[in-house]
Amino acid sequence: MPHTAIVTGGARGIGAATAERLARDGNAVAVIDLDESACAETVGRIRSAGGTAIAIEADVADTAAVERAIDRVVSELGAPTILVNNAGILRDNLLFKMTDADWDAVMSVHLRGAFLMSRAVQAHQVTAGWGRIVNLSSTSALGNRGQANYATAKAGLQGFTKTLAIELGRYGVTANAVAPGFIMTDMTRATAERMGMSFDDFIALNVQHTPVARAGTPEDIAAAVSYFCSEDAGFVSGQVLYVAGGPRA
Ligand code: NAI
Repeated sequence: MPHTAIVTGGARGIGAATAERLARDGNAVAVIDLDESACAETVGRIRSAGGTAIAIEADVADTAAVERAIDRVVSELGAPTILVNNAGILRDNLLFKMTDADWDAVMSVHLRGAFLMSRAVQAHQVTAGWGRIVNLSSTSALGNRGQANYATAKAGLQGFTKTLAIELGRYGVTANAVAPGFIMTDMTRATAERMGMSFDDFIALNVQHTPVARAGTPEDIAAAVSYFCSEDAGFVSGQVLYVAGGPRA
């Protein structure tokens, strides 16, 4: 059955691949990102493949912007019943060098963003008696050098996911998390740059520690999100799926 889906941070990377995958699955997709024009490519690819998509500009950490975005989704695509909280940022630094601003920015986008979006969308899911929420966690939730802020946020999202599963299950709504390992996107490209490495060398370094001996692609993650959003996954809730080319949990 077609649904209206929202993917945050859908302009590029994992969010873009997820938006395209959910559209291919038959859903109308609202692609939300900080800059509406940055969403144009994702929306264009979905439309040229025969799908339905719109671009919406919103900062997921801004309450008023989130409310305006959801109003637009309702009026242009219909009530949203699928939500993928994918928007994310990095502000990596070792603890002794991490600033208050580095900490707050990461908490704000990942945790406050997922909270505001989920609170707004659950109202429509509860009314429909059906819904799917998927949160993007990370293998960094298990601890990662230089990422005290990000690891905390990604672990926090796992607790958030399990709580949503418990609260919303009776309304036909499931909540799950996908925790990617190393995925080739602009985010990891920027990490390589920060470390003074070429992206190819950074990929090779990560592949060395990956049992399936390759780097992950945004499509690998989109496939897992698609499963959690499917009818078939209706009895799967509160789970964290590590999609990391090996057992990282
Ligand atoms: P990316 O940096 O390529 O894309 C993130 C998108 O989120 C960008 O388009 C950005 O503009 C948007 N965004 C950032 N802040 C926002 C805000 N406040 N409101 C709305 N949109 C905002 O990142 P990538 O690699 O595609 O990652 C997507 C998600 O997957 C993130 O949550 C990330 O933490 C997570 N992840 C990524 C991994 C990787 O190896 N690339 C590994 C594990 C998790």
